[in-house]
Amino acid sequence: MKYSIADMRRNYTRDGLVESQAPDDPYSLFGLWFGQAVEVESTEPNAMMLATVDGNGQPHLRTLLLKGFDEQGFVFFTNYQSAKSEQLLAHPVAAMTFWWPDLERQVRIEGRVEQVGDEESDQYFHSRPLGSRLGAWTSPQSQVISGREELAQRLAEVEARYADEDPPRPPHWGGFRLLPQMIEFWQGRPSRLHDRLRYRLENGQWLRERLAP
Ligand SMILES: Cc1cc2nc3c(=O)[nH]c(=O)nc-3n(C[C@H](O)[C@H](O)[C@H](O)COP(=O)(O)O)c2cc1C
Repeated sequence: MKYSIADMRRNYTRDGLVESQAPDDPYSLFGLWFGQAVEVESTEPNAMMLATVDGNGQPHLRTLLLKGFDEQGFVFFTNYQSAKSEQLLAHPVAAMTFWWPDLERQVRIEGRVEQVGDEESDQYFHSRPLGSRLGAWTSPQSQVISGREELAQRLAEVEARYADEDPPRPPHWGGFRLLPQMIEFWQGRPSRLHDRLRYRLENGQWLRERLAP
């Protein structure tokens, strides 16, 4: 197939985001947009990009699944010995971006990060399918491994260990919560004159500002 990357573009016409219709707090707007993404987006509306930073100031970015949100923050789960967790434990700040192409919307969230409590991690871990629970024990996430055979062998060992009991949550697996200081809502508009409303937490109050696209 012949294509020209330079000519690939879309004119966004679906919707607008104006101050008169935007709530005062970003959580209800996120809830509204997330609900609409669940209805409209065909694949994984809870997929987002999570950026972390290491000691050299090098950013690292990868896709994760959001597993909960409320006024406390935005929760995801991972291996606490992974590269991202090492970065988060040493530098507890992160940025998260959702891109919902069918809605022509982006949401960016930035703030501090903390580990969720054991109870919250346990509760989510035990809601996962058995294969995922065994996988959490099997995969030394982010480490170099010799090949798929190593994973297969580790999985066989884990399956044998938990043949007669429910696998407990590994101590090295659990959640983080991003506590937002900033949430920006982006709605695509025609001719690249998009809407951007940024909510910033200042002295415990959310301030709303419009940014140029
Ligand atoms: C759609 C999608 C969802 C993912 N969800 C998660 C997740 O919820 N938790 C996780 O640890 N990794 C998830 N991953 C894998 C991560 O992108 C990444 O490869 C892994 O966490 C290791 O990252 P790190 O080496 O930077 O720690 C997902 C990948 C994709 C493509």
